[in-house]
Amino acid sequence: MKKDFRHIDTPFYYYDTALLKATLDAIRAAIASQPNYHVHYAMKANASPKLMQLICQAGLGVDCVSGGEIRTAIAAGFAADSIMYAGVGKSDWEIRLALQHEILSFNVESLAELEVIQELAEQEQRIARVCLRINPDVEAHTHTHIVTGMAENKFGIAWEDMMMVIEKAKTFANISFKGLHFHIGSQITDMQDFKDLCERINVIQDQLNAQGVYPEIINVGGGLGVDYQSPSENPIPDFNAYFSVFKDCLQLRDGQSLHFELGRSIVAQCGSLMTRVLYVKQSGDKHFAIVDAGMTELIRPALYGAYHHIENMTSTAEKRQKYDVVGPICESSDIFAADLPLPTTQRGDILAIRSAGAYGESMASCYNCRQLPSSYTDTEIE
Ligand code: LLP
Repeated sequence: MKKDFRHIDTPFYYYDTALLKATLDAIRAAIASQPNYHVHYAMKANASPKLMQLICQAGLGVDCVSGGEIRTAIAAGFAADSIMYAGVGKSDWEIRLALQHEILSFNVESLAELEVIQELAEQEQRIARVCLRINPDVEAHTHTHIVTGMAENKFGIAWEDMMMVIEKAKTFANISFKGLHFHIGSQITDMQDFKDLCERINVIQDQLNAQGVYPEIINVGGGLGVDYQSPSENPIPDFNAYFSVFKDCLQLRDGQSLHFELGRSIVAQCGSLMTRVLYVKQSGDKHFAIVDAGMTELIRPALYGAYHHIENMTSTAEKRQKYDVVGPICESSDIFAADLPLPTTQRGDILAIRSAGAYGESMASCYNCRQLPSSYTDTEIE
C-alpha cells in the first residue's frame, strides 16, 4: 500500500481490488480441472457492491442468509440460479422472495422449516429446490463462537433425523430434494478438520445410497481461514491445499456437483480499516493510541478477541513504543490491540487495521449514533 491516505476523512474501509482479483484467479486456477466444483461467495463476509460485482464477474455463485442478501446479490448481478439460501430462521417473506426468484437451492435446517417452505411454495405455485443442512457433529478447531457443526450447535438437522426428513421431503409436491449441505465453522486453518468432514460425508452417503437415496448436490459450506498474523506475507490463502482435501478425501458419486460457500478467504485480506490517531495518552506505564475507528467499524476484536495486524502508515520514526490501540466507543472492550509495538505514533497518524475485508463492514453498527463509514478501492485513491 503506497498510497497517500492523509487527505481522506477517516475512518474508512480500503479495498485492494487488485488483490481481490488475484485471489479470485487463484480460486479459479485451483478448481479449473474440476468442472463439477462450484464456489458460492458467502456474502455475509462483505456485501459491498464494489467487491460483489468483481466476484460475480469472476463467475462465482453466491450464498445468502437473508432476503436482504438475496436482493443485494441480484442487484450486484448474480444470477438467481446461482443463489444458495441458508439460515436457521427464514421468515415467510424471505422464503416467498426466494421462491419468486427461483433460486438454486434452499439449505433447510429443520423439518418445521421444510413444512413452511412446502406450504408457501404451494401458494406461490413454485417448486422449491432443497438441500438439507445436516449437522455432521465434526469438531472445527476455531473460536467457540464460530463453531457450527457440533451436535450441541443450533444449526442443521441431526444426523439420526436425516432419513426421516428426506422421506418427508419426497412426499411434498412442491419440494424437490436436491442434496445435502454442511458447514462446520469459520476461520479453520487445520486441513484435518475438512478431512474429518469429508470422511463423515462419505459415511452419510453410503448410508443414503444403501437406502436408495442419491443426492445430486453436496455442499460443504465455507470456513477456510486466513493468516491474520501476517497478511502481507500471506495475502492469498492456500486454495490448492484446501480444494485438494476434497479431491483426495471426498468420494463423490457420478454426476454429483460439489458446492463451496467461501466468505472470509475471498475478501478478508483485501480490506483494511483505515483510522486516524486522535490522541496519544500516557497513563502510568501505558501508552494509549486513541483512534477514530472503533468496535462499530470492526467488532471482531471486541466480540471474539480476534487479532488484527496494525500498521502505522505515516510515521517514519525509528523508535518503537508499545501502545494499546483503542477506539472512541464507550465500552472497555473497544480495543484493537494491547501492548502493540509501533513506530512512535502521534496525533494525525494513519493506522491500517489489516485483514478487515471480511466481517468488518458487514458487521458495522451505528452504536453511539455513529455514521457508517465510506469505503474506497485502490482504483479510487491516488
Ligand atoms: N456457510 C455458512 C452456512 C456459514 O454459516 C458461513 C459463515 C459461511 C458459509 C462462510 O464462512 P467463511 O468462509 O467466511 O468462514 N463473524 C465471524 C464469522 C461468522 C461466520 C458465520 N458463518 C467472524 O468475524 O469471524
